[in-house]
Amino acid sequence: SDPGLVARARAAKEALGDRVFVLGHHYQRDEVIAFADVTGDSFKLAKDAAARPQAEYIVFCGVHFMAESADILTADTQQVVLPDLAAGCSMADMATAEQVAECWDVLTEAGVAGTTVPVSYMNSSADIKAFTGRHGGTICTSSNARRALDWAFSQGEKVLFLPDQHLGRNTAVRDLGMSLDDCVVYNPHKPGGGLTPQQLRDAKMILWRGHCSVHGRFSLDSVDEVRARIPGVNVLVHPECKHEVVAAADHVGSTEHIIKTLEAAPAGSSWAVGTELNLVRRLANRFAEQDKQIVFLDRTVCFCSTMNRIDLPHLVWALESLVDGRVVNRIQVDAETEKYAKLALERMLALP
Ligand code: 13P
Ligand code: SF4
Repeated sequence: SDPGLVARARAAKEALGDRVFVLGHHYQRDEVIAFADVTGDSFKLAKDAAARPQAEYIVFCGVHFMAESADILTADTQQVVLPDLAAGCSMADMATAEQVAECWDVLTEAGVAGTTVPVSYMNSSADIKAFTGRHGGTICTSSNARRALDWAFSQGEKVLFLPDQHLGRNTAVRDLGMSLDDCVVYNPHKPGGGLTPQQLRDAKMILWRGHCSVHGRFSLDSVDEVRARIPGVNVLVHPECKHEVVAAADHVGSTEHIIKTLEAAPAGSSWAVGTELNLVRRLANRFAEQDKQIVFLDRTVCFCSTMNRIDLPHLVWALESLVDGRVVNRIQVDAETEKYAKLALERMLALP
């Protein structure tokens, strides 16, 4: 990266000292990760955001829903900055507050809302988190989805899982031992979600029809191709991948779990990793010296375009603005939304 920008980022961070805390999600570019005070998956970052009450500014290098969660979980005196406001998440955008309210009406008409607990993936807007909190549900991430579902089924008979159908299905089937028939998919673009009241009454898991545009592109062919190309390869994927991909993989887990698995892997082993490309490249470089071969599961899959919007020029602009006393791109959730979204996030943080 541009040495001039690197020097400017370093100088701005030094000038701000402890007043700024920079968080970096594992999917961020190397040039951005270089300036992160902590890196992590979305669960770790949610906890870390609250752990620095003395920092006036939290610069969140990640996507919009993560910055919203950081704002919800930190004190009102702390201001959260997202270096590029266009860094959204296509999956989070697949569930709007209006659509989810309509879905709840459909469940109410089918007579199942009273026994349904909403569980929303971290990758959702603050509005969806607030809906979840209002209706007695919890948030989950890919590292605690199983515990979240265990808890939800101790509270009710059914779960409405938003917005990632794949994480919901994979967790229900792999971790809770449900059958695929226990799951139905609610399509917000069809009347009644495209389901009959009877289907809703029979289902245990009502999955929202959302997916990640990056992880959704790994296919069974990707797995077959890499196994043919690299004999003995271990296939390690994120649970946002489709069920058939997860079923064909050797290991499944959140970004933090993927990193720990590769750290513990023996020298001489080969791994094909199905998650965002920035992280896979960084891990391939890091472990090459230890004689661990790490390849991307499918070479035709691209970076997460919104994660990549946070680049060094945007980070430098955000930091230098703070040095000048200007808070740019502040992410601030309104008080009413925050109250209920926080309830749902706190239920997640209290999961056993
Ligand atoms: P985790 O950080 O929870 O593994 O989630 C991955 C992701 O897609 C974040 O956008
Ligand atoms: Fe959203 Fe997928 Fe990008 Fe994560 S990787 S931010 S879920 S689009």
